[in-house]
Amino acid sequence: MRLTRPVSYESVFKERAVAIPGFPADFTWGASTSAYQIEGATDEDGRGESIWDRFSHTPGRVRNGDTGDVACDHYHRYSDDVALMAELGLHAYRFSIAWPRILPAGTGAVSEAGLDFYDRLVDALLEREIEPHATLYHWDLPQALEDAGGWPARATANAFVGYADVVARRLGDRLATLATLNEPWCSSHLGYAAGIHAPGRTDPAAALAAAHHLLVAHGMAMEAIRSAAPRMRAGIVLNFEPHLPASEHPLDVEAAAFAHARYNRWFLDPLTGGDYPEDVARAIGWRRDEVQAGDMATIAAPLDFMGVNYYTRTLERSSLLPPLAPRPGRRVTGLGWEIYPEGLTGILELVASRTGNLPLYVDENGAAFPLDPADPTHDPDRVAYLRSHFAAALAALEHGVPLRGYFVWSLMDNFEWAEGYAQRFGLVHVDFATQERRVRESGRYLAAVARSGKLEEVAR
Ligand code: FCB
Repeated sequence: MRLTRPVSYESVFKERAVAIPGFPADFTWGASTSAYQIEGATDEDGRGESIWDRFSHTPGRVRNGDTGDVACDHYHRYSDDVALMAELGLHAYRFSIAWPRILPAGTGAVSEAGLDFYDRLVDALLEREIEPHATLYHWDLPQALEDAGGWPARATANAFVGYADVVARRLGDRLATLATLNEPWCSSHLGYAAGIHAPGRTDPAAALAAAHHLLVAHGMAMEAIRSAAPRMRAGIVLNFEPHLPASEHPLDVEAAAFAHARYNRWFLDPLTGGDYPEDVARAIGWRRDEVQAGDMATIAAPLDFMGVNYYTRTLERSSLLPPLAPRPGRRVTGLGWEIYPEGLTGILELVASRTGNLPLYVDENGAAFPLDPADPTHDPDRVAYLRSHFAAALAALEHGVPLRGYFVWSLMDNFEWAEGYAQRFGLVHVDFATQERRVRESGRYLAAVARSGKLEEVAR
């Protein structure tokens, strides 16, 4: 069912609230990756340069000077990787398509070799009865488009529509879903304001323009995808974090509400028919110069699904109050992200309160932990992390959230952006010297849950 407006918060939650013994039989279990993080082969078959090639080759940008030049060499090993997914009994695989493989300069000439690669990947998945879920933009903008202004320039949104059209025409007959963007907050904020992701700019005004153009690109691309592949399900993937007050002080409550609007609602509200949170826009001095007539309607194009990426929460402390001492017993992952599974239930309920009956997917959830030197496949912390988050998703289902599937980040260890290869998220361990893959305990655990639909203990 395609819905633009929620049925209503109450009807969705009240009608469906039932205790369910496990995940529904048709629940989709899968794993996620993205092109630049796993493919390698950055110079092959006419692929153009992306902003992540440029960024990672700039000294000082990525830990240890790591790059995605080789990564998991998935471009050459995709067939073995699909076999591994089949061995794990995954129902689905979420991957992204590299724009610079399809249109090396961002617009203009289409590379048949690039399209052929994804054609082969999709067919290999279908042969194994694994649903292909693709994303068009997981952060690897063609460098030529960045040179022409990047996302702060509206022309990049127009270029994206051309790219979406080419991909939808070629793969739209076989993809289970196609997402336009992955986490536009990250591409705009981390890339253009914080400067810690490609293209590494530190210009808050440019980041706001980028965020708007990303959403306009999404909306216009939805239309292009609909006409190119009317039967394919299309949507978008957002990252969410609960921003909760660090104390009951009204200033902390206010700081949390502000951060929630800035981080979560900035994207969720316009996509579900609302506007950018006005008080935040005023406070940060955004004059909406980039917003043209009709843009908000374009952004609110009907969706077939929404993807929810969830990792952690943030506690907000007002800058007017003295800092709080660190809380004892706070559990964190290798990246220092707090482990807070109940946040996933809340976020799914928050999204469903806006999207009503629209199918939702957890499109990313997972954790990096340091390697066990004795056995890199021994990862009880990751198993516990996943189990607690699966339970949180089950609670959301019990409350009536129309959650249809869950993709763990990530299928295998890979290039973790500015962290390079130092942080490992894989269900499968990768030895980057030999490219040997070994399934971790967490991979076996996901396999067991996918088989039974129950939160069972780890199967070795
Ligand atoms: C998400 C990204 C994904 C991965 C995880 C850890 O924000 O979408 O590529 O890096 O974080």
